[in-house]
Amino acid sequence: MTEGENSSTIEALFDEDRHFSPSEEFRAQANVASPTIYDQGRDTESYWRTQANRVTWKTPFTEVLDWSGAPYAKWYTGGKLNITESALDVHVQSTPNKVAYYFEGENGDTKTVTYLDLYKEVCRLANALSELGIQKGDRVAIYMGMIPEFPVALLACARLGAPHSVVFGGFSSDSLRDRINDASAKVLITCDESWRNGGRVALKELADVALSESPSIEHVVVVQRTGATVNMVEGRDHYYHDLLAKASDERNAEEMDAEDTLFILYTSGTTARPKGIVHTTGGYAVGVATTHAMVFDIKDGDIYWCTADVGWVTGHSYVVYGPLINGVTSVLYEGVPQFPDKDRFWEIIEKYKVTQLYTAPTSIRTFMKWGTEYPMKHDLTSLRVIGTVGEPINPEAWMWYHEYIGNKRCPIVDTWWQTETGHIMISPLPGVTTTKPGSATVPLPGISVEVVDDDGNPVPNGSGGYLVITHPWPGMARTIFNDPERFKDVYWSKFSKPEENKWIYFAGDGAKKDLEGYIWLLGRVDDVMNVSGHRISTLEVESALVDHQSVAEAAVVGRYDPTTGQAIAAFVTLKGDVQGDDALIVELRDHVATKIGKIARPASIVFTDELPKTRSGKIMRRLLRDISEQRQLGDVTTLANADVVHEIAARAQASQNTVSTE
Ligand code: PRX
Repeated sequence: MTEGENSSTIEALFDEDRHFSPSEEFRAQANVASPTIYDQGRDTESYWRTQANRVTWKTPFTEVLDWSGAPYAKWYTGGKLNITESALDVHVQSTPNKVAYYFEGENGDTKTVTYLDLYKEVCRLANALSELGIQKGDRVAIYMGMIPEFPVALLACARLGAPHSVVFGGFSSDSLRDRINDASAKVLITCDESWRNGGRVALKELADVALSESPSIEHVVVVQRTGATVNMVEGRDHYYHDLLAKASDERNAEEMDAEDTLFILYTSGTTARPKGIVHTTGGYAVGVATTHAMVFDIKDGDIYWCTADVGWVTGHSYVVYGPLINGVTSVLYEGVPQFPDKDRFWEIIEKYKVTQLYTAPTSIRTFMKWGTEYPMKHDLTSLRVIGTVGEPINPEAWMWYHEYIGNKRCPIVDTWWQTETGHIMISPLPGVTTTKPGSATVPLPGISVEVVDDDGNPVPNGSGGYLVITHPWPGMARTIFNDPERFKDVYWSKFSKPEENKWIYFAGDGAKKDLEGYIWLLGRVDDVMNVSGHRISTLEVESALVDHQSVAEAAVVGRYDPTTGQAIAAFVTLKGDVQGDDALIVELRDHVATKIGKIARPASIVFTDELPKTRSGKIMRRLLRDISEQRQLGDVTTLANADVVHEIAARAQASQNTVSTE
């Protein structure tokens, strides 16, 4: 964390005092309706022992938690399982024709995938991957659009015990290459192209660029989505449908130890290099199944829809594994909310009679901007629970969601968690917890969080501090791929006291506890930005900018944005006598898109002769944030070059180059 940067966040206190208790009608039908669940959760290990029954074990575990190697946890030790048996085989036994996914293509094409269909397709792909040489422990990279083959790809890897490493389809070739290389993936599964916002994303073409520098990849499996002609390298590249046509639709599930790796998922941190977060099998399965069932009040006949892309952790946990283990029917939508018109989400809800909607605050704020006429055109009365994830939701957006989408009837579950936590950690239970607009409320049963001060002491109610997790939980990240030291350093060093065997996980978020002990998330306190619910590292964007031939130095901050939560503001000094003009701004934004992906393009770029620095040469991002948000400038006395700040402020004000990140 950068010194002094957190203070304004932490001091931001809310006066929100509206309360919404679950209605009698909701409570009467809720899976969890009694607050005694929180008491049960206090005996963490006994609670998680009971919840483990949600998963099918090949061999029962002998111990719930082994924390002797802290901070490297082991859950359900001795247990053997394959997560796909819980997600597929059990449902194929009991309800083979139940729909697993209603797929809705962006162009309106649809496909209904039953649990039996899904099982067969997963077995076929698992067999095909096995033919290509994939064995337990081998890494498989996945870079796809939101089509049914995307969950199939994850599950086929899991069937074989081959950790998948999914790279979001919006990332660039360079990002894909770096992730493939870090994980030494042997196979890449991708698509010819994907549909997005009426256009095409040339996934295979982007992958080809990455593959030219990814020597570990031996084979590429290509799903035909648009049917575009793509380059296929003889012997290396294979069409998915060709491989599957030859493959058997039965495949034994590899026996996995509870602690064998299920997947790696890269996420941005406070350095320029993304971290490969490692999740294992048993604890993750129990964690996602439990939280999904409880938070969304999942029932047999439900039609559940999580709008997240499978490329992010929300998609892994709440589009693929959680819903499938719970045997629910999900909607899988390929495209964007504004295609072909701004009512697409509401049309889908009406069409499939969706009962749970799980989406991001940034989308809700966009819907607010578009106006109520879009949701009002459709019958949304099928909805029972509505959720949010990814960033703090402002009370105004919460109220809008409550009124226009939830029809003042549906409990809102504001769920706080992270790639590293694997599953939801803080959220209301819709049949139990009284909600307050803008608060994620309280930790789920079996989860222990605290808000602490700089010294790691819990703050009293009514105060702010750092959000920490004080006891291990089943879905917790086990390590950073190939870098256990970094794992310990990043997450466990700030507040832990190893000499007392006290291990505290620091989440990177600021939070406040209100007078009733409710938790209000206040955003990141480190150099991580949150743009539309996506984590982007300031350093990653800075190094992408500096990689451009004209750039000498760059500083990047997240500034408040009413729709995307934060927007990326860049301050750039140029080399020699290069002139900063509009054309260069466009070029730099394109450059960042090429290095990282379009989501990381700065919304504004200000050219400056110098960046504000301390005497030791450290860039003062806090001041740049003040400038970007047009606040009174903070303390400049520690600056080596105080004058420059006022000059930058004047330039930032004058620059009209704020552009959309879409
Ligand atoms: O800052 C928090 C924010 O998103 C971060 C985690 O990002 P990521 O690993 O990409 O996972 C996003 C989806 C789980 C957190 O450190 N965040 C997530 N959910 C919330 C949130 N901030 C406030 N309220 C939330 N409900």
